[in-house]
Amino acid sequence: MPKPKVLATRPLFAQARAILDAACDVEYWTQPERIPREDLLRRIKDKEALVCLLTERVNDELLEAAPNLRIAANVAVGFDNIDLPACTKRGVIATNTPGVLDETTADFAWTLLMAVARRIGEGEALARSGNWKGWDLDQLVGTDVWGKTLGLVGFGRIGRAVARRASGFQMKVLYTDALRVPQETEQELRAEFRDLDSLLAESDFVSLHVPLLQGTRGLFNSQRFCRMKPTAFLINTARGPVVDEAALAHALETGKIAGAALDVFENEPSIHPGLKRSNVVLAPHIASASLETRTKMACIAAENVVALFARQRPPNMLNPEVLSGS
Ligand code: DGY
Repeated sequence: MPKPKVLATRPLFAQARAILDAACDVEYWTQPERIPREDLLRRIKDKEALVCLLTERVNDELLEAAPNLRIAANVAVGFDNIDLPACTKRGVIATNTPGVLDETTADFAWTLLMAVARRIGEGEALARSGNWKGWDLDQLVGTDVWGKTLGLVGFGRIGRAVARRASGFQMKVLYTDALRVPQETEQELRAEFRDLDSLLAESDFVSLHVPLLQGTRGLFNSQRFCRMKPTAFLINTARGPVVDEAALAHALETGKIAGAALDVFENEPSIHPGLKRSNVVLAPHIASASLETRTKMACIAAENVVALFARQRPPNMLNPEVLSGS
C-alpha cells in the first residue's frame, strides 16, 4: 500500500521528521527562504496532508489547488492563517498545537515585560557601544515591576501561566476575558476579574493573551490607549493585528502610555516605523522559540497527520465535525 503523500513547508526537526517519515511519503521544503506561494500551490496538488507554519495561508485558493488534501496540520497554536469554514466545507481537517507552548510563551511575556520596564534594550546598546562612561545615579532609570498591577487581557492557558509567575513579584493580578474563570482558579492564581476598561485604568502592565478573532482585531485602538495610565506598558505576545499599530505609535509619541514590548506585528515581517523607539522593545515573533517547545510543536503536527492515516482521530482537531459520523 503506498504511503500517504505529505508536504511539509519546513524541514521541521529530526524528531518530527522521524514520526512523519515512518508513516508517510513526505516532501519537505528545505530552501532557506519561505516557500513561495506558487511553489506551495504546485507542490500541494497531489498531497493528502500539509504540515504548515502560521505564515502559510490555508484558504480557498490552496484548498482548490489540493483536491486530495485531507488534513492541514498547523505548527502553531494560533490558526488565524487557516480558513476553518473553507476547510470544513471541503472536508479537510485542520489541527493546531495547543498546550505545549504555554509555559515557554509565558516566560517570554515576562522577558518582554522586564526588558521594557528595566530598559534592557537601551542598556545593552550602551554597554556595547563603547560610549558608556560608568555608573551614574540617574542612568537608564526604569520602573519597578515588583508590587505593581498586572492586567491580563485573555485568561486562557497562556494568560494563566503569566499570572502564576506574578506572585514571585508580589504583584496584584487583574484579568479580563469573555468568561469569568471558576472562583477556585481566581483564588489559586490570586487574580481578580475586571471589565476591560477597569483593567486598563488600573494596570501598570497590560499583557495580551487573546486569539485573533473578528472581535479582537484592532481591540487595542486609540480609545483603549487613552484609558491606560500614562505610566503603563503594553506587552503583546498574542497576535499583531489585535493592536492597531498606528494608534499605538501615536499613543507612545504623545505619552498616552509609557512604553511597549512587542513580539508580534500587524503585518509581519514589517514593523510600523513609529514603533522603533527607545521605549519599545521589539522581538521577531519568538515567544515560543525554545528548542524544546518548537520541537514538541512540530512533533504534535506530525502526530496529527499520522493519526489520521492510521484511522484514528487526530488529537488536536479544530473542526472535528469533519469526522463526525465517520
Ligand atoms: C503560535 O503558536 O500561535 C505562536 O504564535 C507561535 O508559536
